[in-house]
Amino acid sequence: MNKIRKAVFPVAGLGSRFLPATKAQPKEMLPIVDKPLIQYAVEEAVAAGITEMIFITGRNKRAIEDHFDKAYELEAELEAANKQALLELVRGVIPKNVTCIYIRQSAPLGLGHAVLCARPVVGSEPFAVLLADDFMATDAGTAPVLAQMTEVYGYEKCSLLAVQDVPRENTRQYGIVKAAPYRPALELVSNIVEKPQPAEAPSTLAVVGRYVLSGAIFEHLENLGQGAGGEIQLTDGIAALMQAERVLAYRYSGQRYDCGSKLGYLQATAAMGLKHPETAAGFSSFLEQLAKESGYSRT
Ligand code: G1P
Repeated sequence: MNKIRKAVFPVAGLGSRFLPATKAQPKEMLPIVDKPLIQYAVEEAVAAGITEMIFITGRNKRAIEDHFDKAYELEAELEAANKQALLELVRGVIPKNVTCIYIRQSAPLGLGHAVLCARPVVGSEPFAVLLADDFMATDAGTAPVLAQMTEVYGYEKCSLLAVQDVPRENTRQYGIVKAAPYRPALELVSNIVEKPQPAEAPSTLAVVGRYVLSGAIFEHLENLGQGAGGEIQLTDGIAALMQAERVLAYRYSGQRYDCGSKLGYLQATAAMGLKHPETAAGFSSFLEQLAKESGYSRT
């Protein structure tokens, strides 16, 4: 299989780091400027040529399904009011050739379990996994991160993990790989551990929420027991896959914001606010003003 056609979005998580904002709405629906996180992730998959979006959802996640569905009443109102631009915005949330599939993960058994829930729909072909709270920004003229990865997949034909260096004290937040140089931006993974303590981490190269995985991963996930935190870990499935197949770590071009954390979310909002055509100028002068004011208050 040459082309990645399917993407899996594990969106069943509770978003407890964002309470109370996520009490009654999915964390994936939090907006960066004017678009929810999940829409950015879906757009990244669309830009990579993916046409089947598979959402692994849970209770309280209906807003995600509604977001990617037709909004009859809203569209009728906008049409009646002749608000053409807004109407197109609402209708264009997802391209017509893209199919959305929703699978319920009935218990929060871990990321590996969430991915395994997609097996009946993915089958044995390679697929992408996107964690929407890892918000990936790229400069104009650079392909979005998942598109970079599907391009690499086109010639390497193996599983790929997006990675970045992190401070050693943060290894306990990530899957950490041990890898050896392979090609520019690519490293051959020889070990992967979920959330090791800094002293035990095999390196400081962390996996972030973009994966291209061989369909063989399902077999390995199926056979896993509980891993770190008592959950079925995708990382453990990858560790098992690695024994049978090549797995490469890919140092992507771009900037990742951890939108599962308050600080990362604010940083992403600021970065995108400075890029958005409607807010760039006003927001930039506001930030300058803010810096000046806080400068004064320090002296
Ligand atoms: C998950 C994965 C972890 C990965 C991280 C990237 O952890 O289990 O291996 O490094 O996403 O964001 P989580 O952030 O869901 O705890």
